[in-house]
Amino acid sequence: MNKVLVTGGAGFIGSNYVDYAIKSHADLQVVNLDALTYAGNLANLESLDGNEQHTFVHGSITDLGCLEKLFQEHRFEAVLNFAAESHVDRSIHFGVTEFIQTNIQGTQNLIDVSNKYKVPRYLQVSTDEVYGSLADGSRFTEQTPLAPNNPYSATKAGADCLVRAAGNSHDMDVVITRCSNNFGPRQFPEKLIPLIIANARADKKLPVYGDGMQVRDWIYVEDHCSAIDMVLRKGRSGEVYNIGGMYDVPNLEIIKQILSVLNKPENLIEFVTDRPGHDRRYAMDNTKVSSELGWSPKYSFQEGLSLTVDWYLNNATWLAGIQSGAYLKYIDDLYLNR
Ligand code: NAD
Ligand code: TYD
Repeated sequence: MNKVLVTGGAGFIGSNYVDYAIKSHADLQVVNLDALTYAGNLANLESLDGNEQHTFVHGSITDLGCLEKLFQEHRFEAVLNFAAESHVDRSIHFGVTEFIQTNIQGTQNLIDVSNKYKVPRYLQVSTDEVYGSLADGSRFTEQTPLAPNNPYSATKAGADCLVRAAGNSHDMDVVITRCSNNFGPRQFPEKLIPLIIANARADKKLPVYGDGMQVRDWIYVEDHCSAIDMVLRKGRSGEVYNIGGMYDVPNLEIIKQILSVLNKPENLIEFVTDRPGHDRRYAMDNTKVSSELGWSPKYSFQEGLSLTVDWYLNNATWLAGIQSGAYLKYIDDLYLNR
């Protein structure tokens, strides 16, 4: 594989994937298309400045003209779609239009151009949230029915269905990865772990939704990237692969571990009104990706957390660049009087 298109590669997971792929494959060219929404950040790509394996293109997957131009210019051997509106709270409280445009229409646009230009493989980056909420003791497998419970996951499930349909109707070579909650460097501080690190570091209150006993299955971002790379290269056409860290614990426990690493007091914790329709538990079954492709996570949660906390402490400028203007308004709108 010589040239791939990565969409959403200026965001959290996409930028980590671009780094990972370029380091892992010396002959790989990555074209990185990103619309630079609030979550996209060119500072996430600083380590690639001057790297001839990487080309950044500013544009949106909702813009068919832009995609046409890109696909005429480059002969991609694979398309990896990371681009998305990715935050559940925004989808609940601030409108769904952009989620539908990017996650659904944008995905269909990418499928259409990939089909038209006969791209040999299309990989859709999806999420465990498409399966909905899980009872204690069980785990999501690839056979678990889709049952999304919030607007974000509903649009991601819609995209998965369109990708599946393209494989079936147009005989396209498609694969879907569904991953559990990621954490690591460069995650936008609207998501739990970076929000808690950023607030605790500044001795601000830590908002815990409801009773804090909701369970998420955490994976260090580099492990997600290595799994995606493996599915891209070795996954069977038409298949879905679940990816998870096998570290499913309640939010409150995660927050206490962060406080312990930062040596901050637990009285910063503040219980706030729960997220409406909050999914109680997610946990992934990794059997397929590990037995079929030989993938396993490299980092324990504690190793990943230590690397993540260090990154945020050493990158105060990155954080300060985000924690102004629109971000402060978002935080006020979501958390004030909650
Ligand atoms: P993110 O919000 O940090 O980044 C999204 C990126 O997509 C940003 O760079 C943004 O500018 C870009 N983007 C948004 N709309 C676009 C458009 N129309 N055209 C081009 N670029 C656009 O998200 P993330 O956490 O890095 O997630 C990446 C992907 O992984 C998403 O598809 C998400 O659903 C999936 N995922 C995330 C997690 C997680 O825990 N964060 C877990 C499983 C799956
Ligand atoms: P989040 O990082 O938004 O990911 P997702 O909703 O996609 O799982 O949230 C992770 C968990 O943390 C989820 O159960 C909601 C909870 N949470 C809080 O308790 N407080 C917060 O301020 C945030 C952002 C999330």
